[in-house]
Amino acid sequence: MDIKVLPLPEESKKSKFTDESKLGFGKIFTDRMFIAEWKVNQGWVDARVQPYGPFSLDPAALVFHYAQEIFEGLKAYKWQDGSIALFRPEMNARRFNISADRLCMPEVPEELFLEGVKQLVSLERDWIPSAEGTSLYIRPTMMAVEPVLGVKPSDHYYFYVILSPVGAYYASGFNPIKIMVEDSYVRAVPGGTGEAKTGGNYASSLKAGLEAKKKGYDQVLWLDGVNKRYIEEVGAMNMFFAYADKVVTAPLAGSILNGITRDSVLKLSDKLGFSVEERPIDVNELMADIRSGKIKEAFGSGTAAVITPVGSLCYKNESVDVGNGGVGSLTQRLYDTLTGIQYGKIADPFGWIQ
Ligand code: COI
Repeated sequence: MDIKVLPLPEESKKSKFTDESKLGFGKIFTDRMFIAEWKVNQGWVDARVQPYGPFSLDPAALVFHYAQEIFEGLKAYKWQDGSIALFRPEMNARRFNISADRLCMPEVPEELFLEGVKQLVSLERDWIPSAEGTSLYIRPTMMAVEPVLGVKPSDHYYFYVILSPVGAYYASGFNPIKIMVEDSYVRAVPGGTGEAKTGGNYASSLKAGLEAKKKGYDQVLWLDGVNKRYIEEVGAMNMFFAYADKVVTAPLAGSILNGITRDSVLKLSDKLGFSVEERPIDVNELMADIRSGKIKEAFGSGTAAVITPVGSLCYKNESVDVGNGGVGSLTQRLYDTLTGIQYGKIADPFGWIQ
């Protein structure tokens, strides 16, 4: 499908950030956005890059009432030689369609997804920051815009992409965060939408997150929704635990997000000589292994979170430091290797970079 590029009037041009160390995460947006529409009996139409700006939507639009919405997150990196890299974008396109299927939304052809992202990023290349740890966060989204109050799949959707120059997701940067294991609320159950990247999963996580914050924790670690016994994920990240010679993470059993960084960490850990295990992790064993020192490091992985060290875990009011509570050596090596590949400082043996 042809993508039209609409003119960018002078008045739509924003002034750019001047201090890349103060970008924060997802607060600034670029001048343009990509959008395509899907209409019943027509399919995908009217793909265009247009000035960034608000939508005018009917208050009855289905997304506002029944949350038929999905999204993705990926990043563009500016390399020292001036070229621009995307990290495994085809994986985001595929996952987007898995989410779309779960929410009864139309498939976005991979080519449309990737071309929309690439053309937009290319047009907005001057917005990509270059300071260490910064990048251009890309947020593809699809939402149901048909104005009707019946509960049903929409017959009209917007698929759009916006861009945000970002620094670290956590204000503390690459420093250990404190996590509370949530034993009251649950995020997902088998058969639910936990594996889909849909806004409702995040909306329903807010209450537990706020309560944990009040107690001094940065994030909650979810347990499985049936037995509240097995480790799942941390909303914004998948979780990893490192023993002396192996790395363990929860399996993809339908209720956690199939993280692209998660997959990359598994492959990198293997390359670094660690065995990798994707298996149910009992929270009691986990805490015992942290207490005894068998688990030496814990960290989260995500596009926004990159690799985030976890310094301590609290479960049922018992807080335990992981290792010495600092940044472990494997966590550091994984961070350096992953970001080295993403920023073109290390050769990419996996073919991840486009
Ligand atoms: C991402 O890592 O891209 C996400 O979508 C997580 C979100 C909480 C920022």
